[in-house]
Amino acid sequence: MRRIYMDANATTPVLPEVQQAMQPFWSEQFGNASSIHQRGQHARAAVDHARESVARLLGCRAAEIVFTSGGTESDNMALFGLLHPGDHLVTTAIEHHAVLHAAEELAERGVDVTFLPCTPQGVVEVGALVAALRPTTKLVSVMMANNETGVIQPIRELANAAHAAGALFHTDAIQAAGKLALDVKELGCDLLSISGHKMYAPQGTGALFVRRNVRLKSMFFGGLHERGRRPGTENVAGIVGLGRAAELARAWLAANPENPDSPASLTALRDRLERGILAAVAGAGVNGGGGDPVARVANTANLYFDDVEAEALVIALDLKGLAVSGGSACQSGATEPSHVLRAMGLSEARARASLRFSLSRLTTGDEVDAALEIVPPAVARLRELAPKKQPPAFSR
Ligand SMILES: Cc1ncc(COP(=O)(O)O)c(C=O)c1O
Repeated sequence: MRRIYMDANATTPVLPEVQQAMQPFWSEQFGNASSIHQRGQHARAAVDHARESVARLLGCRAAEIVFTSGGTESDNMALFGLLHPGDHLVTTAIEHHAVLHAAEELAERGVDVTFLPCTPQGVVEVGALVAALRPTTKLVSVMMANNETGVIQPIRELANAAHAAGALFHTDAIQAAGKLALDVKELGCDLLSISGHKMYAPQGTGALFVRRNVRLKSMFFGGLHERGRRPGTENVAGIVGLGRAAELARAWLAANPENPDSPASLTALRDRLERGILAAVAGAGVNGGGGDPVARVANTANLYFDDVEAEALVIALDLKGLAVSGGSACQSGATEPSHVLRAMGLSEARARASLRFSLSRLTTGDEVDAALEIVPPAVARLRELAPKKQPPAFSR
């Protein structure tokens, strides 16, 4: 069966160029980057080169990049590294759990935490942040692009507001890196998280940008790696992969719109998929970016299909070879509807009826056509099978 992958926000394939760049570091160039002999020097040079590449993607200095084990660690490092009991943290109700659960843990440890709401389109408003800021606000953390809806937040304006109140600004840019042009100076970020496996590098790789002069308390204790900010022998092959992916991302972001492998062509594919599904399926719509379009990253479409359980639809589509994801999370054995969609004001039923299609740079027009053949009948079939809503048996 043909397998079509439209779950790139969960993880992306590792591009062949990235695999090729990493390969020697698992074999003949296996050195420890801290060793002073030649093998170690080669490994160190490769890590330094990757650091330059990631810094170029983000518009910062190489010394401002800390390599981590992924997005979750980068987010945790930013929050736990800065905040102490009595400090105030402002974040949002639509963050990924890597920030949300870290903020909840910080609240347990005596940090005051405010969770900002969002509009029905999934946007965090600057006015809401301004109203929440206090003299004790140490950090504001707002994601750049939402992992479920793809909605892009007004980061520059939010960062300006945070700075005006004397707070630092962190953004979880894990779903934005490689999809949007990022420049930490232009954006005004003090800290910014990225993750390799959302940008065609391997799982278990990531980085945190830490602006010079921002002091973070280390979460781990050990050697002096990463300028003492993150001890532990570097994952040289993974770091090399992240660096190569950053170079490829820069080239891709600059690609001509006519190029079939460019942000413009990916947006066109996503829009074709979205329009095709909405034209063929009644009772369906876009979450975040629908009637009142808001800016979204190129690859993401979050759609609701009324009277369908998203989980059942994910399985039905998978059986037909199409991989997508629902927004629900399994919490203590029960599936909870997406906190993001609920924060946008969707009813529980609609949140449970929502699916995320996230295309990758490798998605083709043929695959979109095939998905358009698969989705409408699958939705129709599940609706047929669903117990009909019965009118009350008797009324008083
Ligand atoms: C917005 C966002 N933040 C953080 C993470 C966590 O990143 P990682 O899987 O690299 O730990 C993810 C992963 O889905 C994400 O989408």
